[in-house]
Amino acid sequence: MLEKIKETTAYIKYKTGFDPEVGIILGTGLGGLVKEIEIKETLPYDTIPNFPVSTVEGHSGKLIFGLLGGKKVVAMQGRFHFYEGYDITQVVFPVRVMKFLGIKKLFVSNASGGVNPDFEIGDLMILNDHINLIPNPLMGKNYKELGPRFPDMSDTYDKTLIDLAKEIAKENNIVVKEGVYTAVTGPTFETPAEYKYYRIIGSDTVGMSTVPEVITARHMNIPCFAISVITDLGVPGKIVEVSHEEVQEVAKKSETKMTLLFKEILKKI
Ligand code: HPA
Repeated sequence: MLEKIKETTAYIKYKTGFDPEVGIILGTGLGGLVKEIEIKETLPYDTIPNFPVSTVEGHSGKLIFGLLGGKKVVAMQGRFHFYEGYDITQVVFPVRVMKFLGIKKLFVSNASGGVNPDFEIGDLMILNDHINLIPNPLMGKNYKELGPRFPDMSDTYDKTLIDLAKEIAKENNIVVKEGVYTAVTGPTFETPAEYKYYRIIGSDTVGMSTVPEVITARHMNIPCFAISVITDLGVPGKIVEVSHEEVQEVAKKSETKMTLLFKEILKKI
């Protein structure tokens, strides 16, 4: 695996000559942040050796290199999900490559279903913790060049970045919630009983991504910041039929707020 990471990194370095400081993973319907990036290079996933190819609508599948908020970033426009049928190590492969490209921080966005009764559709929630119900991407042989066999997860979401994000949100009159994201495999959305269960075990939102990438980044000691757009509610009395199209639509509406937050945080780090 290390060989593959090194091969892919070498290819990207050769093609782009770019050394990013921050990695960004853009979630469902949030790819519009790319419009704010002063783009230097773009590599479609299907041209990158060893990269999986994204199959989901709303995930266009490119690595974008450029400047955002004055920082050199590499952004994944489109990510890989376990439910697409990839092996979990393939899902997180790009994060390892980003580390080898030199990123010092990882920013992640996603869409999720709110189970906290105080949440509304369109809210943004900063992740301050997670519950992982997707197979752990670190299972199998541990590569000590990447990180320890038993990584600590007590400080998964960087507190300095969370505080900075909250400060910026306040300055710009953006309401942000904070809470626990539970990662599930999908691809089914939850039944009412499942939403209730996720609430009982301590979740504020539930979604199908992010945590595998964050675990992989923390294994390599990369500070992480993650934010979720609440696209539907799994709250008793508020549960309605949900579709991927609606999830994309709501996420798009919150895109401007999220983009501003990311950009301003980048300016200040
Ligand atoms: N459940 C799981 N994943 C999701 C949801 C949801 O309600 N909304 C957006 N992604």
